[in-house]
Amino acid sequence: MIKRVQKIKNGLKGEITIPADKSISHRAVMFSSIAKGNCTIKNFSSGADCHSTLNIFKQLGVNIDFIDKKTLSIKSDGILKYSNLPLNAGNSGTTTRLISGILAGQNFDSVIIGDESLSKRPMKRIIEPLTLMGAKIESDNDHAPLKIFGQKLHGITYDSKLSSAQVKSCVLLAGLKASGSTTYNEPYISRNHTELLLKYLDADITTNQNCTTIKPSKLIAKDITIAGDISSAAFFIAAGLIIPNSDFIIRNVGINETRTGIIDVVKRMNGEINILNEHVESGELTGDIRVQYSDNLKGCTIEGNDIPRLIDELPVIAVLASQAEGSTIVKNAEDLRNKESDRIKCLVLELNKIGINITETPDGFIVEGKSKIKGNTELECYNDHRLAMSFYVAGLIAEKEIAINGFEWTKISFPEFEELFCSLI
Ligand code: S3P
Repeated sequence: MIKRVQKIKNGLKGEITIPADKSISHRAVMFSSIAKGNCTIKNFSSGADCHSTLNIFKQLGVNIDFIDKKTLSIKSDGILKYSNLPLNAGNSGTTTRLISGILAGQNFDSVIIGDESLSKRPMKRIIEPLTLMGAKIESDNDHAPLKIFGQKLHGITYDSKLSSAQVKSCVLLAGLKASGSTTYNEPYISRNHTELLLKYLDADITTNQNCTTIKPSKLIAKDITIAGDISSAAFFIAAGLIIPNSDFIIRNVGINETRTGIIDVVKRMNGEINILNEHVESGELTGDIRVQYSDNLKGCTIEGNDIPRLIDELPVIAVLASQAEGSTIVKNAEDLRNKESDRIKCLVLELNKIGINITETPDGFIVEGKSKIKGNTELECYNDHRLAMSFYVAGLIAEKEIAINGFEWTKISFPEFEELFCSLI
């Protein structure tokens, strides 16, 4: 599907409530399915990825029903059942990597499949630690389909070279059913929703800076309310900062500090952003974000421990940086090449087509600011939802219309994306 986007005449005004966080929605369904008891999950994501997770746990015998569009009822005795059909993770890396940790220690075998993009994504990062724990996994040269032969697992201490919440979560989930304790060390702290939610559901888990230890635990079901997704809010934050006269509020956004790299970067760039009404929701810090047009943005360097705290926001940060004074340098983000597309290569190729001065580097990109965004161009989103939404934001300030090919991929994480933008015009 081709989406045509035109420059906005006036600023974005009003308020919106951002839909549920994708990472927490996945975890809420997974952990409630392996917990004992009944619970309600409020504000579940409508994205296709989270529905892949939900369908897999139904297939594994868990009782999951929709009470309304965004509310789930989950009833489980904490025991998953064998499915003789492959488990389809669709486009979702989070689903694949996290459930591998759950399935590796079951007393049955499973097969995980996915779409073309998922089948190209690296799985060695989870196969390696799971194998050290005693798991038996067959793959297509370290890619999906993954055939997981359920085994008795044992705990390990794993020093990860990557700061990846998916790998960390996979190992910790395997640790829930392994004998002894499992410790995971990571170079920089990645998002910690797994640790927070497992603790909320009574797991024996402790974190000390970059080191997390879990002991075999039985989870107890509890109601969960999911905060809004800061990675979805990021498109609105970037748009509000660069569209003249904008001033609006984004309600109910998860502002867990392992996710707020975008807010820190916006502040470093001189952007007008303020957090209001902070409170805790099911163990997660939540708040409202006020964004105002900022005509004095400055480029900055984004590297090291910034990266896992804003990894999914980097494509739209590139668009934001194109309107700042000076250069923005992104380093240490080589794992962006392993997302739904090679997000460094594809982003640079497409943004150059509309006049943004951006250069590819092996581990990131460099944007020279104050670009005029031209338009009259068709951009390809490479079946990548976050590229499609980032290009949309660029289209809102382009001199002429931008056409985005593959815009339907926004359904992966944020089906409400365009409707919410229109509500602020
Ligand atoms: C996610 C972790 C990140 C992120 C992805 C969701 C998660 O991936 O990019 O969109 O929910 O754990 P990595 O762990 O591969 O960095």
